[in-house]
Amino acid sequence: MRMTVYLNGAYLPKEEAHLSPDDRGFLFADGIYEVVRSYGGTLFGLEPHLDRMADGLAALRITGVDVAELATVCHELLKRNELDRSDALVYLQITRGAAPRTHFFPDPPTSPTVYATTMRFQPKGDPALGVKVITAPDQRWTRCDIKSVALLPNCLAAQTAREAGVSEALLVRDGVVLEGTHTSFLAVIDGVVRTAPLSNYILPSITRQAALDLCERHGIPALPAPVFLHDLAAADELFLAGTTMEIMPIVEVDGHPVGSGNPGPVAARLLALFRKLTG
Ligand SMILES: Cc1ncc(COP(=O)(O)O)c(C=O)c1O
Repeated sequence: MRMTVYLNGAYLPKEEAHLSPDDRGFLFADGIYEVVRSYGGTLFGLEPHLDRMADGLAALRITGVDVAELATVCHELLKRNELDRSDALVYLQITRGAAPRTHFFPDPPTSPTVYATTMRFQPKGDPALGVKVITAPDQRWTRCDIKSVALLPNCLAAQTAREAGVSEALLVRDGVVLEGTHTSFLAVIDGVVRTAPLSNYILPSITRQAALDLCERHGIPALPAPVFLHDLAAADELFLAGTTMEIMPIVEVDGHPVGSGNPGPVAARLLALFRKLTG
């Protein structure tokens, strides 16, 4: 079946979707993206994902996008690709648009490029087994709260993890373990779930927030507070959270077992609660 994508107001076969080489997404990574997961056709957290997209557009001062309309685009794409009863991802990307290359914003502004696509999705990794990770220096910029398409430092660290034979790299800045290259990071230390507080150094992750909300609702002690590199050895549990991984226990970090070396009870409980949310 031919894949239908969305580009600038039109639904069209993917092969017919063409972008200008002057697109500022291509030239400057001048854009943002979102990844939303569909569970059997129900998009999890669509509203917070689109709110985050609106925040990103405001931060980049990209105007002229009807973000609310993107909800319709997501549903329509799933339907047109016969994925509305499947597990799938919807990918959305908005750039400032195409204009002759200059660092300044185009004046007058160009129309933004709005692209969306969808794909069938099967999660990788088994939460009953957990994953291994490494730590790596955080080489990103200081606006990691923006879901920018400028992901080169994330890609480099992810590739380092892959070459080390592990699933993810935890990014460390000034001794604080902030998040993964494409996941959030949480720890259980002295029985309390801890994760870096929201700041310009982490993405305001939808799954991280869902996990914190679940902790609050179900009486699991939790606190947005930094997890330091030197905390890892004594942690009871560590886990990743994200749209693609859901809640994924970490069983080994930098070659050292986490806790008992097996997935822990808090991650298992949060995953069970999370799965009730996603149906
Ligand atoms: C750097 C980073 N942190 C955290 C996450 C998890 O965010 P979310 O739960 O919104 O998928 C992602 C997801 O892509 C990410 O790229």
